[in-house]
Amino acid sequence: MNIIPHPKKTEKISGSFFIKQGDVIFCDEQFLKNVRRFMQMVEQCANITLAMTDDIGSANIIFTRDESALPESYFIMLSQGVATIKCADDAGCFYAVETLRQLFDLDRPREQISCVDCYIEDSPKYRYRGLMLDICRHFFDADTIMRIIDIMSQVKLNKLHLHLSDDQGFRIEIKKYPELNLVGSTRNGSEVVKNGKRYVDDKVVSGYLTQCDIQKLVSYASERHIDIIPEIDLPGHCVALLTAFPQFSCTGQVTEVRKQWGISKDILCAGNEKVYPFICDVLDEICEMFPSQYVHLGGDEAPKDRWCNCKLCRERMAELNLSGFDELQTNMIEVFRKHLVHKGKTVICWNDGITPSSSKDIVMQVWKPFTTNQGAREANSGRKVIMSPFSKMYFDYPYGMTPLSKTLHYVPSKGVKKQFLSNVMGVEACLWTEYVEDTDKLFFNLLPRIDALAECAWGYRGVKFGKRMRKRFEIYEKVGLVYNGKATLNGCRKLHTVRNFFKKDANIELNEYLYKQK
Ligand code: ACM
Ligand code: ZN
Repeated sequence: MNIIPHPKKTEKISGSFFIKQGDVIFCDEQFLKNVRRFMQMVEQCANITLAMTDDIGSANIIFTRDESALPESYFIMLSQGVATIKCADDAGCFYAVETLRQLFDLDRPREQISCVDCYIEDSPKYRYRGLMLDICRHFFDADTIMRIIDIMSQVKLNKLHLHLSDDQGFRIEIKKYPELNLVGSTRNGSEVVKNGKRYVDDKVVSGYLTQCDIQKLVSYASERHIDIIPEIDLPGHCVALLTAFPQFSCTGQVTEVRKQWGISKDILCAGNEKVYPFICDVLDEICEMFPSQYVHLGGDEAPKDRWCNCKLCRERMAELNLSGFDELQTNMIEVFRKHLVHKGKTVICWNDGITPSSSKDIVMQVWKPFTTNQGAREANSGRKVIMSPFSKMYFDYPYGMTPLSKTLHYVPSKGVKKQFLSNVMGVEACLWTEYVEDTDKLFFNLLPRIDALAECAWGYRGVKFGKRMRKRFEIYEKVGLVYNGKATLNGCRKLHTVRNFFKKDANIELNEYLYKQK
């Protein structure tokens, strides 16, 4: 069956189910919205208008609730002219409709809609099925983010993590501190790899999401059962913020939103007591905007050179009797975590920002494990983890380096003991945008990788992924998104492409693909 992600159990039965004019739907009132969505899909596909009834006995397409089922789960049975759909909750019903859409191929207009009789039982293995988008290195607006949400929801992903602040741009409106946007949301050049060279150009890159954009996005995502998780990266990756507020750096001398990629030594000063209420104010507005349970505080790649040379930072470390600067970062994050806990939030941090004395309540997002099985060890020791190993889940790298098979075959819970499996919340792919300047490259890097991510995240790898994935290409075509139509499971693994990506032309794969399309 052409379904991505592959359901937990599927079985074909002899016979076929036809959706026809005159078919009648019964649905539990709770599912009305999703059922109307299904009716609209059917109408658009084959101009068939389905009727609704209150009388279950006269219906042949029946959506009911199964209160005892696992969250997000659903069950579909097509047999002897009756479609029975049982859903645990609204999310389960949303996913049942997405499965019916793929099963009946409702995105392809035609005369007749049919499918083999079958039985499908489905529920996700992982409750966190995420995608991270970096809108700092290059800015992507609310409309583009909504296109991503559409695709995510079709393959049952449920967390969109927005990386909102970094050295190269602060990209969320904070009303109390307009300088963050007036100064921090614009840079006057970027490091590029083009024409066989790596250099810094002078093109202005600007933009941020307004609070109104966020309201729109949060509600759009929520209708599709997706939570948006905001990230304010602290104390490193803060140059844009520090350009607006240089007094919050250790040197007081941060003068420009960073144009180069990589890691800056300028980080937020931990010894300046005014930094703490300032960041709490920012986080307060973030909490107002995003209803998500989770707030990501970054914590990655924060070199301590400035802290070593800063009187205030050294004094604070001594006052708190801390053993080193990493502990000073742990303390800083803990101040903000406690502030967020009062607002009912749970903090996520990248794994390199977590030390042995960090709170056990911080969820660890494992991108660069210090040991090969750091994620599993953390889960086995009681910490909740989200798995994002860069070698498999970073979609900014060329396909030549990270082919689909690496993402598809990744098993997030490998090495985790049975009693700790629930500590593996799930998996998230990351799309960093240093070398993603526009939506063509964005969607080229994302599609069809998102299908491999969904298959991994839902948790039941099925056979013939390649064939199922090619069916998805029709959708990308229909909605007019650029995708890598040449992507195969192990294909595109060309070393020269990878070398060129880093040294000569960061768009080599996209350009070769578009050239061959012509
Ligand atoms: C990261 O890639 N710095 C989380
Ligand atoms: Zn300092």
